[in-house]
Amino acid sequence: MTPPSIPTTHLAVAVTTPGQPLHLVRRPTTLPSLSEALIHVTWTGSSPIDLHRADGGLLLGDTTPTNPFILGCTFGGTVVALGSNSSSSHLAVGDTVYGFVQDGAEQEAGYQEYVTVPTWKVSKLPSSSPLSLQEAVTVPGNLVTAMHVVTEDLGLALPWPVTPPPTAAGVAGEGILVWGAASGVGMYVVQVLRHWGYGNVLAVASARHHGMLKELGARVCFDYRKEGVVEEILGYVEKSVGNGGSGPKVPFIVDCIGSTEGTLRPLTKIAEPGSKVGVMLPVINVHAGQGQEPDLEMDVSKVLPGEWKEGVELKGTRTFFYAKNEFFKNHLQPEIVPALLEQGVIQPNKQRIVEGKTMLERAQNALNLLRDQAVSGEKLVWRVADEAN
Ligand SMILES: NC(=O)c1ccc[n+]([C@@H]2O[C@H](COP(=O)([O-])OP(=O)(O)OC[C@H]3O[C@@H](n4cnc5c(N)ncnc54)[C@H](OP(=O)(O)O)[C@@H]3O)[C@@H](O)[C@H]2O)c1
Repeated sequence: MTPPSIPTTHLAVAVTTPGQPLHLVRRPTTLPSLSEALIHVTWTGSSPIDLHRADGGLLLGDTTPTNPFILGCTFGGTVVALGSNSSSSHLAVGDTVYGFVQDGAEQEAGYQEYVTVPTWKVSKLPSSSPLSLQEAVTVPGNLVTAMHVVTEDLGLALPWPVTPPPTAAGVAGEGILVWGAASGVGMYVVQVLRHWGYGNVLAVASARHHGMLKELGARVCFDYRKEGVVEEILGYVEKSVGNGGSGPKVPFIVDCIGSTEGTLRPLTKIAEPGSKVGVMLPVINVHAGQGQEPDLEMDVSKVLPGEWKEGVELKGTRTFFYAKNEFFKNHLQPEIVPALLEQGVIQPNKQRIVEGKTMLERAQNALNLLRDQAVSGEKLVWRVADEAN
């Protein structure tokens, strides 16, 4: 039976028809089974994936007005119940928690007042933490993404507990180019690389973010808005990046944006045979604008065919599959993410709090900011439950 303080139904924000405004729907609150936690959600964060779903109709499956797609890849809130196998987990009723979840999964998607989530997708914010929940909620989606792209797509080691990378002498000296370093994903990629000892991080972002990125760990920054940025990067690596005279001058590249013209085209001129390039999917051929239909591509090999040098290893990043790495499944959200945050190793993204009278209005206002490409060096966060502090 549902404990009396837990409502049997609650509100959620969903896509019902691509290209149409978001909807508020009412769905049943699911009590946690076995190794799950039921969480009262007070904060969430918006990401470009919401726009890809809402305007681009990306991987919406059989979404219809009667089968809505609940949005939200992150949640922050309070544990209100635990499944019977969860008593030995890292959680207790009353804990303040946050996590990265799968949007579209009815029980766990973040834009709803209650989520029912496997405990391995939950990080605890200790009561002694100096961080607020709205700060913490900026972290899980993009930090998990950063660790996934570095390990799965670049093939670099991130051992836990942290030790210098096994090939420190070689890899630490080799260049890792992070294009789109001021994005939500990029800021965590830079910090993760620094913490694990990969010291030669080249960051590409607007000039106004260069000071911040150097503080987070970038060795050198380039301004993608400046004409000739590709030649500038090539000139720098020609002179400065040690690769022992063999192999690609930039062996590792993370494209944190995945824009055909904005990031991939310039990267075709930088990547060489042997370079590994991790690209955030979907690739954006046309960005969703006010009244402009987006064009998205999930297969990175179909983008700019014939323009990459033979031997460049292109990888499309898909973080929703990060738990295929069993170690990450068991340790990333329960242990590693909160430890990095509490130790002050990882600084949360700067937050922009999106206001609105209702949770639907806040979700819609955040979507408008994403549509207008008004997010820069920050993460959009907003209150979910109307009664949240
Ligand atoms: N597949 C996956 O696993 C996965 C996971 C996470 C995110 N993603 C995708 O990755 C993309 C980024 O997500 P996010 O949350 O990090 O985005 P975000 O923070 O909203 O991105 C905004 C930032 O993009 C930067 N930017 C835009 N165009 C750029 C360009 N041509 N070169 C360099 N920087 C550029 C801007 O930098 P400046 O401020 O410097 O101008 C701005 O700070 C989204 O499409 C998202 O859906 C995919």
